[in-house]
Order: sequence, then structure tokens, then C-alpha cells
Amino acid sequence: MKLIAPSLLAADFGNLEREMEWFNRSEADWLHLDVMDGVFVPNISFGFPVMKHVARLTQKPLDVHLMIVQPEKFIGQVRDLGAAVMNVHQETCPHLYRTVQQIHEAGMKAAVSLCPATPICTLEDIIAEVDVVMLMTVEPGFGGQKFIAHSLEKVRRMKEMIASSGSHALIEVDGGVNRQTAPQLSEAGVDVFVTGSAVFGADDPAAEVRVLKDLVLTSRA
Ligand code: DX5
Ligand code: ZN
Repeated sequence: MKLIAPSLLAADFGNLEREMEWFNRSEADWLHLDVMDGVFVPNISFGFPVMKHVARLTQKPLDVHLMIVQPEKFIGQVRDLGAAVMNVHQETCPHLYRTVQQIHEAGMKAAVSLCPATPICTLEDIIAEVDVVMLMTVEPGFGGQKFIAHSLEKVRRMKEMIASSGSHALIEVDGGVNRQTAPQLSEAGVDVFVTGSAVFGADDPAAEVRVLKDLVLTSRA
């Protein structure tokens, strides 16, 4: 599977209606929403009032990336947004098995994210339960950062772990995804490509989504 998930973090917050207009008519597959708490990551983004507004402006699946401590407290609120994917960090979930179970009970897909320095073996005992593994390809907290090249090798190892465990988890990447990095990531086995500045910063964002989609489809493994 090859999906493009534009990240609202790079949007013009003064013109969300206009941003969602191009998003809806583009080939984008998911809308990625970055929630930050200033504790787990050194930045604060937006919260439920903004996401509720945006949720009313699109029918496409929402991928809610919670860069916050104790994300399990918000499972009900994320479900009430109508989110398709609730995305939590391994680093903030000491009882990840229970959290994943509760996300499923709420009717959402469970995505688990790993920061660049967190080894993939931390997911070995839960990989069969998760729907999506998201590898951060920058340190979480800010858009527009440089892609960490080591991530390519991490994606390959993640792909092997998923295959050998019989899991059906998708691999998602987040950070520094653009025309240069997306093809390499696709070859390495990535299924879902989060992209912020590369798409929202383009003159024609919908056209950029199409370019990225073509690139990842032609460089599949
Ligand atoms: C970073 C966020 C990303 C960010 C990606 O903490 O999780 O989703 O928006 O932005 P780019 O694509 O600009 O690196
Ligand atoms: Zn994100």
C-alpha cells in the first residue's frame, strides 16, 4: 500500500477552509494531525477545538499523532472526532498493550510511533497487535527538519520484523519526506508517507501530492 498523508502542522492556520479545499480534491489519502503538549516534545501545536473544526471539513481518514504524555486519557475524545487512526508514542505508553487494546475497543486503528533513537525491538512483543508502526524520521516537535538518513536502514529492519512475525502492520514515516527522500523510503518498504512542509509549501499542494504519489508508486519495493 502507498498512501500520502499531508500534515496539517504546515498549513496556514488562518485559512484552514482553503487548505482543506485543495486537500479534499487532491489524491491525499489521510490527513495527519500533530498534537503536541510542550512536555513530551518541546513545542505546542493545536488541540481538540481545531481538530473538530477540521474534521468537519473533510471526509478523508484522520491520523491523529499524539506527541503527548498519557495519550490514553484522550482515546474517547479522539474517537469522538471520528478519527480512523490513533497514533501514540511507544515512549509515552508504559502499558502499551492495554492502550492498543483500548484504541481498538474504541473502533480505531492503533498506530505506534518510535522516535529516531528508540530501537524497533521495543515493539517485538506487540507487533502482531498494531495496525501501523510509525518511524519518526526526524525528532518529533517541529516541521521542516532534515531527514535522518539512518531511518532507511531502520525501515528495512522494521519490514523484516513485520514479515517474520506474520503481522500485517503498515509502516508509516514522519519527518523530512519530500521528492528526494520519498522514493528511497518507498523502496525500503514504507506504506504511509506523512509530509508537511514539502506539500503545504509547494505552489500547488495538490499537484505536489500527485508528484509524491507517482514517485512512491514507481519506486515500490
Ligand atoms: C513533527 C511532526 C510531523 C511534521 C512533518 O513532529 O510529527 O508530522 O509535520 O513535517 P515535515 O514534513 O515538514 O518534516
Ligand atoms: Zn506527525
